[in-house]
Amino acid sequence: MAFNEAQFKDILAEFTIGTERLHEIAATFRQDLQLGLRDVTLSSMRMLKSYVGLPSGKETGEYLALDFGGTNIRVFKFRLDGDGKFEIIKRVGRPLIVRGEYDYICKDATAEQMFDFIAELIDEVIDGDHNTKYYLGHTFSFPSTQDNLYNARLIIWTKEFATQGVEGEVANDLLVEALKRRGAGNVEPVAVLNDTVAVLLSAAYKTPDTFIGSIYATGHNTCYLEPTIHDPQGVGLGGMILNLECGNFSKIVPNRFDAEYDAGSEKPGEQRFEKMVSGRYMGELFGMAIAELLGEKGKHYGLTSIDMSAMISDNSPNLHVVSDIIMAKVGRELEFDDVAKIRELAAAIVIRSARLVAASFVALVWQRAGSGKIQKQHVAVDGSVYEKMPLAKDNITKAIGELLGDDAAQVDTILDNGGSGLGAAIAAAMAVQK
Ligand code: GLC
Repeated sequence: MAFNEAQFKDILAEFTIGTERLHEIAATFRQDLQLGLRDVTLSSMRMLKSYVGLPSGKETGEYLALDFGGTNIRVFKFRLDGDGKFEIIKRVGRPLIVRGEYDYICKDATAEQMFDFIAELIDEVIDGDHNTKYYLGHTFSFPSTQDNLYNARLIIWTKEFATQGVEGEVANDLLVEALKRRGAGNVEPVAVLNDTVAVLLSAAYKTPDTFIGSIYATGHNTCYLEPTIHDPQGVGLGGMILNLECGNFSKIVPNRFDAEYDAGSEKPGEQRFEKMVSGRYMGELFGMAIAELLGEKGKHYGLTSIDMSAMISDNSPNLHVVSDIIMAKVGRELEFDDVAKIRELAAAIVIRSARLVAASFVALVWQRAGSGKIQKQHVAVDGSVYEKMPLAKDNITKAIGELLGDDAAQVDTILDNGGSGLGAAIAAAMAVQK
């Protein structure tokens, strides 16, 4: 059975965004941002204040960094040497869940158990030294509100976390208590930040003229330096970084797959933008479209963005990688034309994702420029989709070109690998050296 040509074209069209529509999306994003700057309840984004601006690049000294944003916890000791230079002195990493052994993210786990586990890792990084004073920066990548650089309070767990007793609490307070229980009260958390903010700090420390930081991975979110917001205690330069939580941007018309996926998801109505662009969801949309083509609507094949990456990278004459994945996950042997179409569909979903992400970046570039000229700048991005997914980075660049025309020469995206750790150390230095 070959795919129905008209149906295939129709599905591809659902995942195609032309230049004009992309322009509208970027403009809508900027408008939503401006509404939020006036009154945050008017925006679909949370637009959380970070209480930190940009580093000067002169930050120096030894700091601990805790990267807590997913199931893998990482703790580092960094030495910052200023001028964008740094060294990792020590690092440890361990998952919060090992099936059959322990699980600190399930609903039976308590905040105490989770933070005791983290305190143990911190203790390992300081070699059990309970005398020297250590300042710690904490990248806590879950939606939180704060009114200073220390006191981020978790609004709601995301990413399938369910540990009791953390929602509504100040993450650093839970950490301080755990450190005290361990006798490591000499470690003092002084800053907490979202992973996007950490990426921006890390990139700006090394590369001047960076004002936008983004994660493009399993999840998606972006922050930027808003020049008009100045907090009296605001640490850092140039205004305040706003963590947009733009995964929740919702003023965009979803296609029928987006709508259907959202309706059947854990949290319908939440994270609409993230569900269209991030690595966690692209495989789901892909699977839904294939099911429709095969007349098996509603069937789940468990296709992932890693499968899509492998398929798009398959340049073999008979597309055997694509065929093998379809055989393994969909359980079908398809004729060559259909195999090629499936590869084309994977590419279309990735390209749409990259174009939408690019539109949000351009909206922020416009916002920062106001009525003035667009200045030369870099957009720092970290994450597996940006780094490894074929077509992602190229299509961001292409879309920025379409949206900015001649001004596109002023803007490029740069990979900031590992910014979640380094950014936390920089934030700690900024808090202490302010
Ligand atoms: C989710 C979180 C956000 C984080 C992003 C990337 O969207 O809500 O805080 O920045 O994932 O990790």
